[in-house]
Amino acid sequence: MDNRPIGVFDSGLGGLTAVAEIMKLLPGEDIVYFGDTARVPYGTRSENTIMRYVREDIDFLKSFDIKAVIMACGTASSVSLPRIRKEYDIPIIGVVEPASRAAVEATKNGRIGIIGTSATVRSRSYEREIMSLCSGAKIFTAACPLFVPLVENGRCDPDDVVLYTMVEEYLAPIKAEGVDTLIMGCTHYPIIERAIAKYMGEKTALINPGLEAAGYLKQSIGAAQNASGGSCRFFVSDDRDGFSENASKFLGKSLCGEVELKTVGK
Ligand code: DGL
Repeated sequence: MDNRPIGVFDSGLGGLTAVAEIMKLLPGEDIVYFGDTARVPYGTRSENTIMRYVREDIDFLKSFDIKAVIMACGTASSVSLPRIRKEYDIPIIGVVEPASRAAVEATKNGRIGIIGTSATVRSRSYEREIMSLCSGAKIFTAACPLFVPLVENGRCDPDDVVLYTMVEEYLAPIKAEGVDTLIMGCTHYPIIERAIAKYMGEKTALINPGLEAAGYLKQSIGAAQNASGGSCRFFVSDDRDGFSENASKFLGKSLCGEVELKTVGK
């Protein structure tokens, strides 16, 4: 059995959607989480900048002798994954493939919506993956750049007027197309899933990419339990207190004193 930890990263809180699921599916695994809060958001950056951030994030996680990386970030997975996989000697799991597969399995009418950051939507990563699995699918996309700052600022309540106004504005064109499945293509978005579900209605299947990536991880490493494991170390590159407060709310447990500061890159 390989008792080394799993490394998980995102630009901020979003990757916790994968962590929450790994804790449920693989409770014996040790996790090292890095949220690059000094440089969030990634989704408005250029390809070169995102590539640099991703390499620096993985290099930091590799210093813990991890056995695999979960790129719990739709933007990083969309922009960097095929190239990054060639550069490292450990398994790197992204969110695009597992989420696309889940969407194709969920849809009944073949009409699939995808929301994500500007970089993710521009990359067309989810579209390519879905079309390779189901060439007849009809796909409708929308970039939602204000969702990440809202989540990072704790504005997640479905009754929050600012959040719900943005949900309506971003999702109206996709809803009008009659999609029955929506990929929340940025890992921050499941944190505002209740607001998205309230607007889309209960008949729309919402796909959570962090959750799907955790399921994929379980399949690939097996359900072997590390009896002494189950710990999680959290690192951020800025604002430990803000992260700790929002992460505690999301994970439903106090992280007080457990979040460590780490600057990566220059
Ligand atoms: N949670 C990330 C994603 O899945 C990053 C969003 C951002 O930093 O813009 O795309």
